[in-house]
This record gives sequence, C-alpha cells and structure tokens, in this order.
Amino acid sequence: MKILAFESSCDETAAAVVEDGRKILSDVVASQAGMHALYGGVVPEIASRKHVEAIAGITEQALREAGCTRADIDAVAVTYAPGLIGAVLVGLSFAKSVAYAWGVPLIPVHHVRGHIAANYLAFPELEPPFLALAISGGNTLIADVRDYTELKILGATRDDAAGECFDKAARVLGLPYPGGKPMDELAQQSRGGVYHLPGTHVSGAELDMSFSGLKTAVVNLAHHAQQTGQPLDRAALARDFTDAVSAELVPRAIRAAELSGRTVIAAAGGVAANSVIRGDLQRACREKGYRLYLPPLSLCGDNGAMIGAQGYYEYLAGHTAGMELNAYATREIDE
Ligand code: KG4
Repeated sequence: MKILAFESSCDETAAAVVEDGRKILSDVVASQAGMHALYGGVVPEIASRKHVEAIAGITEQALREAGCTRADIDAVAVTYAPGLIGAVLVGLSFAKSVAYAWGVPLIPVHHVRGHIAANYLAFPELEPPFLALAISGGNTLIADVRDYTELKILGATRDDAAGECFDKAARVLGLPYPGGKPMDELAQQSRGGVYHLPGTHVSGAELDMSFSGLKTAVVNLAHHAQQTGQPLDRAALARDFTDAVSAELVPRAIRAAELSGRTVIAAAGGVAANSVIRGDLQRACREKGYRLYLPPLSLCGDNGAMIGAQGYYEYLAGHTAGMELNAYATREIDE
C-alpha cells in the first residue's frame, strides 16, 4: 500500500511516499528555518504562508522521486495535530483536497505518533510493545507503545519541551535558530562541570519533567555575565546545559522501563539527534541490558515519511477521516 503523506505542523513543509509503513519511496522536506532565523524563532503567520507557497511543488517532487503518479497512491496521510494551528491547517486542507480529488482515504496522524513511527522506517525488526522517548521542539514525553495505534503517556514535561529549551538557551548564547544543532556543536568543545544548573523532581509524578527552570537559569547566567562584564564560558555552559537536559530525560526513560517492564526503548524527535543525549541513552541502556533504537539524524526532525509510516498503521486500525476532519493545536498522543 502506497501512502502520500504530508507534514506541516511547524516550519517544515514535507511530503513523502511510503510503502506499507516501512519503506520510504521519497521524502521531501522544505525547511523554512532560514526565514525564521531572522526573527530568532518561528513566526506562525510566516510559517503558514510559506507552507502555502511550498506544498504543491513539494508534493509533485515527492511523487516524481517515488516514481509514482496519482494512480499509484492508495491513501493520503496528514498531520492533523498538534502544532501551530495555521500551519497544520495548510497541510490538512491540501491533504483533504488531494484525497477528495483522487478518491482515496484520508488518514489523520498525530505528529508525535509520527515521530515515534520514524523508527519503523529505520528498523524493520522493530515492533510494539516498546517504550518511546519523544523529544522534539514542541513535545517531550515518555510513552508506552503497546501497539502501533495504542499508546499511553507515562510521563511528560509539565512546561516547555526539551527542544524549545534548547532553542531559547541557544539564543542567549548568541547561536542561530534553531539552536539545538549549534548548541550540540558548541557543547562538544567542552567537558563542562563549570556551571551548576537545576534539576527537577515533580512530586508524586516521578516520570514527569520540567524544563522552564533550566531555561531561566541559563538566561540568568548569561544576562548576569553580560551585566557584570564577567567572562562566560559559552562552551562549558552549552555542555552543562545539555547534560542537565539529558539528566531530565535519560534516567526517567530508564525508570519508565523499570516500572513498565519494557526492555526496548526507541528515541524520537529533533532532540534525539543530540550527541550527548544519544551517548547517555546508549550507556544507560547498555548497563541495563535494554535494546535501544536511535533513528538516523535524517529521521529525527520533522518529515513526511514518519507520517506515512504511522498513517499505514492508523489505516490498518480503521482510523480514517471524512472531509469534516479539523486541525488541533494541542491533542494528547493517547486521546
Ligand atoms: O522534531 P522537530 O524537528 O520538530 C518538532 O516536532 O517540534 O524538533 C525540532 C527541535 C528544535 O528545537 C531543534 O533545536 C531541536 O529539535 N534539535 C536539537 C538538535 N537538532 C535539532 N536539539 C538538540 N541537539 C540537536 N543536535
């Protein structure tokens, strides 16, 4: 079964053709990051407009690269939530028109379910059940993936997402948007151990996380250094910050595995590209004897293929939608 999939929930316009949920026939991503970098973060209205400009061309390219015509496409999958509402609406409206015009089913896909499903594309042997650590720019959670379409949140951030925290911390360190990758590169220049940054414990919810205090601590450190003229070891701060983010994520993922009895963990989302976090996850899973899946960097960030992968399993579960399907800025992964 060939699915044409769309993703437009933030600042990437993406279209892909995926076969049977596992094989990428094409995966075209047009990033708007350079445009938003001018403003230090995503400007929602600009994101929507850029999606409108890009989506038809991206779709033609995805079909061409897959060697497909419309007659080869069996269904259309699309991110319908969560994300910037105007941005999600562009992909959703386009996907609806394609599904309607071509007379094929429309499959709504939750964006974070898509991130997790990126692992199905990279690892043919991976099947539920497993634990997913989904860490992206808009979402941070640990989910028990009981089956392809049956997920349960075990823990989540109470405030900012890990990626958002990376982007804000990077900004005060003078790094360009999106800050995760440059922060990663800067952190690699230091062993850290210079700045003490706070960790969190959410009383009564040991798998829940928080990143806003960490973000504020980095902002305060940078501003204090600026105001007092004291030197700031940017590389050490980037490293200590990254270690602090990792300390929020990795022990909780391991604890979730202990509590749930799962022994397979899959990482997902843009922040799963981080070299320190990947290393920490590898070490922790090796110590515990858990199997760890880390998607290739190309499948960590937003893309259409991951939506096609999850879309296939949603379709098999009978989760298709009519033309009344709406977009949602927020929606839980297990709703
Ligand atoms: O998954 P994604 O592309 O978009 C969402 O679904 O939100 O994630 C984007 C986030 C951004 O915050 C970006 O700075 C972060 O992932 N990111 C990284 C790295 N590469 C991207 N964060 C830390 N280290 C990286 N190497």
